[in-house]
Amino acid sequence: MTEMTELIKSRRSLRAPYDPRRPIEPEKLAQILEAARWSPSAHNMQNFEIVVVDDPQVLEAIAHIERPVSETFVRENYAQLSLSEEELSQRKTGILGIMFPPSWRKPDFRLADLSAEEIAAMRRPLPASPLLLVVVYDPSRRAPASEGDFLGIVSLGCVMENLWLAAESLGIAMHIVSSLSSGGEVKEILGVPERLVIAFSCRLGYPESVSPPYLRVRREVAAFTHHNRYGG
Ligand SMILES: Cc1cc2nc3c(=O)[nH]c(=O)nc-3n(C[C@H](O)[C@H](O)[C@H](O)COP(=O)(O)O)c2cc1C
Repeated sequence: MTEMTELIKSRRSLRAPYDPRRPIEPEKLAQILEAARWSPSAHNMQNFEIVVVDDPQVLEAIAHIERPVSETFVRENYAQLSLSEEELSQRKTGILGIMFPPSWRKPDFRLADLSAEEIAAMRRPLPASPLLLVVVYDPSRRAPASEGDFLGIVSLGCVMENLWLAAESLGIAMHIVSSLSSGGEVKEILGVPERLVIAFSCRLGYPESVSPPYLRVRREVAAFTHHNRYGG
């Protein structure tokens, strides 16, 4: 149990470049996919398929897809930002603002106010990685009587966590890239049928250099636990 808790706690998002010349060993990739295979899903629907991308040319094409940022994203993201480590330590939720360009760190963000340099900075390609997993699902199927397929979507989260914990246990870093889910370009490059939707994509690999540790925060257990009665 302690080992499991340690694994859960050591799993983290590693957004740095991964060495593109150091592929994931096939037996480790097989173990990661095996972990996805055994994910729990509502009604055991197993509502996912995974496109494994390790062809350098395809990775390069995906890395250079434009991932436009919407004003809505930046405005809503602002609510999650702490502008210092002290603030983040106190809030215990959200992320550190320095991950994002300075222009994003204000509540009244407008795309129209950005300079040419700021727009160019937003066009940076995806950091390198030898492997990308693109998890897709069919939104026309749903878990029985599950409004908006809420239960199906929760199931996709279970796949994500299984993949992530398996990768972590094998010493492989992972980074979720939600911005690849919105556009149709990834689907087009990968030949994913129109009817399917990208649930999430993740980069996996071995970091090119040791990343400095960053502040990771969580609420205390007591802050989200209610005994016998909500609020009790
Ligand atoms: C559904 C989901 C979507 C996420 N999308 C992104 C993303 O697009 N880019 C990113 O850098 N991290 C993404 N993350 C990672 C979270 O930001 C990260 O898990 C959170 O800040 C906690 O940090 P940790 O993973 O290091 O514990 C996503 C995580 C989840 C569960």
